[in-house]
Amino acid sequence: SKIQHIRNFSIIAHIDHGKSTLADRVLEITGLVSERDSREQYLDKMDLERERGITIKSQAVRIPYKAKDGQEYILNLIDTPGHVDFSYEVSRSLAACEGALLVVDSTQGVEAQTLANVYLALDHDLEIIPVLNKTDLPSSDPVAVAQEIEDIIGLDCTDAICVSAKTGQNVDAVLESIVEKLPPPEGDPDGPLKALIFDSWYDSYRGVTVLFRMLEGTVKKGQKIRIFSTKRDFEVTNLGVFSPEAKEVKSMGPGEVGFLCASMKELSDAPVGDTITDAKNPTDTPFPGFKKIKPMVFCGLYPVEPSEYEPLKAALEKLQLNDAAFWYEAETSQALGFGFRAGFLGLLHMEIIQERLEREFDAQLITTAPSVAYKLVNNKGETIYIDNPSKMPDPSLIESMAEPFAKLEIHVPNDYVGAVLKLCEEKRGIQRDMRYLTATRVMITYDIPFNEVVYDFFDRLKSVTKGYASLDYEVEEFRVADLVKLDMLINGDPVDALSIIVHRERATIYGRKVALKLKRAIPRQLFEVVVQAAIGQRIIARERNPALRKNVTAKCYGGDISRKRKLLEKQKKGKKRMKKMGNVEIPQEAFLSALKAD
Ligand code: GTP
Repeated sequence: SKIQHIRNFSIIAHIDHGKSTLADRVLEITGLVSERDSREQYLDKMDLERERGITIKSQAVRIPYKAKDGQEYILNLIDTPGHVDFSYEVSRSLAACEGALLVVDSTQGVEAQTLANVYLALDHDLEIIPVLNKTDLPSSDPVAVAQEIEDIIGLDCTDAICVSAKTGQNVDAVLESIVEKLPPPEGDPDGPLKALIFDSWYDSYRGVTVLFRMLEGTVKKGQKIRIFSTKRDFEVTNLGVFSPEAKEVKSMGPGEVGFLCASMKELSDAPVGDTITDAKNPTDTPFPGFKKIKPMVFCGLYPVEPSEYEPLKAALEKLQLNDAAFWYEAETSQALGFGFRAGFLGLLHMEIIQERLEREFDAQLITTAPSVAYKLVNNKGETIYIDNPSKMPDPSLIESMAEPFAKLEIHVPNDYVGAVLKLCEEKRGIQRDMRYLTATRVMITYDIPFNEVVYDFFDRLKSVTKGYASLDYEVEEFRVADLVKLDMLINGDPVDALSIIVHRERATIYGRKVALKLKRAIPRQLFEVVVQAAIGQRIIARERNPALRKNVTAKCYGGDISRKRKLLEKQKKGKKRMKKMGNVEIPQEAFLSALKAD
């Protein structure tokens, strides 16, 4: 029967190990897209993704494939996002599959991200096919890497497939292996409708498009469906598959993967991970493990010019339509004026949104320091989450405060173990485990306050390991901690946008650092500028910029008229990125450098 000829699979890989290249080659070899189209990388749609070489949104493509046994198969390739920030989405995409290709760069070996995704795949009982990529490169060592996969993951690599996704060499063996090794889906076509939503997006023309995997029953165009978690009903207006273009179909049964539209207006009408069922004959056993995604990292986003507020607002609205994990609300800062508080899954997610705002919407932004959400119990016994330091209540009203802790897994060549341990200790980490995976590769596990991770951990890790470490993290729980709000004052005025919540132990060091950086980043003025760091009324650091003498300015503008004009133009541009704090003009760079570590 038909279901016997379906194979649903994903490709899991560490960033840059060649997932997208392999996917493109598969589409090409099966004749689904021409070589030219595939050069545009079919599975990575957004420009930004392509440029940064990362996959943000998952996608599914149906690939008809005639196998060597003469039978026609339907391979559904379900693409997963590659970064730690999106691990819930990865997990949902994997849940839609029976198997996965584990792509490992044979010049590199197993990385933290590889492991994290393999464990997710094993959690979902997926059949895993190891694929050793980049065998065209002279430094490729498939034998050693296969051994590493066996040692570290415990996966049998006797039948690992050596390929070059770049040249296409041996990629046909991957297709055969998918057909032979991965089990077909199961499911009762006569049961009540049950389908898993693993992706959704919005466009103004069709509203929400939902990507789903059929588990039980049948879905048809015109059918009244129900979203399990919200109990809201919708009528299916379009039903189809991507192959690779959208093609309408009349109905779909168990094991199939496709898209539907149902006059849904918002992404929250079809949350990723939720179950679609029939409105008249609903299932009582939804697909397990649904959770609402919530932002973990927060920051303020402010337009440089007040007149850019409305366009920024429109841009945020537009972005949110297509990103259920992105949250924002209006906020006002004394220092920065009208702006927004925004929440993200993690740092990469934050950078992506900021970059898109600047690029696609031409927005000039000032971004405040990223913060995590702290859990606080006030003196009335109420629990409150604080994602904005300026909203922290007076310490006398706080009963206790807790910070989120992340479990960090770092993979590193043994030469760098010392440096990594030192960094983790400095970040208030608590070691959980350290294991030699092979003679030269170590996995270090730490519990670390998430705000320390958000602050500058990635950059520091990269620099102390010369880029050889890879990292995976998961926020696990809140732990009580002695936290204080640190304010930065410029000529006595607190700059609310620069306030942060820090551990008391670290407040002085941090305050000194930021004060010094601010001092350096604020251009000297015609009057004295004093920068201070304070906890409540107590000043813990102080720096000053003496007044600039007038004739100094006169001198540097002297003479050459064209040079002067250039200077003026430069100034005008610079002004655009300035914010006035009392009587002090602060360039955007000052905020950024104050907020950045070292
Ligand atoms: P993310 O989308 O960031 O997760 O990366 P990815 O795993 O999809 O990697 P991608 O396919 O973008 O490949 C990363 C780089 O490796 C690109 O520059 C590819 O051209 C290159 N690459 C991929 N496969 C091969 C291969 O078999 N041989 C060689 N020499 N290079 C390859």
